[in-house]
Amino acid sequence: MYELHHPTLLHRPIPHEISFLTLFITLQGLFFYAMKHCISIAQFSRQDIETLLQKAKDIKLSPQNYSLSLLNSIIAMLFFEPSTRTRLSHESAALRLGARVIGFADSNTTSAKKGETLEDTIRVINGYADAIVMRHPEPGAAQRAATASDIPIINAGDGSNEHPTQALLDLFTIQEKFGTLDGLHITFVGDLKYGRTVHSLIKAFSLFHVSIACVSPSLLKLPDTIKTTDIKEYETWDEVAQTTDVLYMTRVQEERFDDKEEYNQLKENYILTSQEAEKFSAKTIFMHPLPRVVELSPDIDSDPRAWYFKQAHNGVWMRMAILLHILS
Ligand code: CP
Repeated sequence: MYELHHPTLLHRPIPHEISFLTLFITLQGLFFYAMKHCISIAQFSRQDIETLLQKAKDIKLSPQNYSLSLLNSIIAMLFFEPSTRTRLSHESAALRLGARVIGFADSNTTSAKKGETLEDTIRVINGYADAIVMRHPEPGAAQRAATASDIPIINAGDGSNEHPTQALLDLFTIQEKFGTLDGLHITFVGDLKYGRTVHSLIKAFSLFHVSIACVSPSLLKLPDTIKTTDIKEYETWDEVAQTTDVLYMTRVQEERFDDKEEYNQLKENYILTSQEAEKFSAKTIFMHPLPRVVELSPDIDSDPRAWYFKQAHNGVWMRMAILLHILS
């Protein structure tokens, strides 16, 4: 992300006397400057997140109030990797705000196939759109795009690195259920090594008072760069099931494995069936960023604790809030 080290900020003259008003306006400017791109959840303060959660709540209650908010904007959706929810909920969000949408869902149909660099693609699309929502298989690609871009880049997932807008919609869903993000017990299950949604959500939770448990095969543990000392790791969910408020299931990410045999050995380690679901309390909600493969049995779809489709639908409201915040 562009942070406070951008040349235009560094070259700003330092006033001899700074009034409180100047300081306030400068700090506000820095906040909005920092929000030019949405690359990592780490760029958000707790207050930033709370502002977005409130805005998404307002939008969900009265979406008609926002239908003309981005009337003259064009948003480009650049998806170099497959997606259903992230692309279509961003498109839906843009259209509900009155913006128009261009882009591609299959990079094989673009000049990337002829060898065009990501940076050149971004520079060209700077002339066609007002913001770019981009998914890319390489960790760090969103940052590369931001470095080449004068218009905002929204990271829609960069390899196994981050998925910040998913983390924000997950927080929105959890707050919708519990009314708070503090004091909760969150259990993450599955592919915590490659799961970018988990990486972003755990970083976001570092701003709140939560207890985090991780359940994964030893080969798919949370990377040391994400893990903090207070996160506890388990081989099964049995020990934490009764205290868990949010059970966050994830898919083992086949596309990140070089060794397909290893994937086949790991993909069915944790499956939430209706029988396993009985171990969790009535207050627990079951979440999953989707798509699911085998890890969520369809027989729990009718369980009132299954919140993953509500979670996917909430993506529209949160992405409207993010687009509004960045573009208006
Ligand atoms: N949750 C998520 O990122 O889904 P898609 O891959 O379908 O966008």
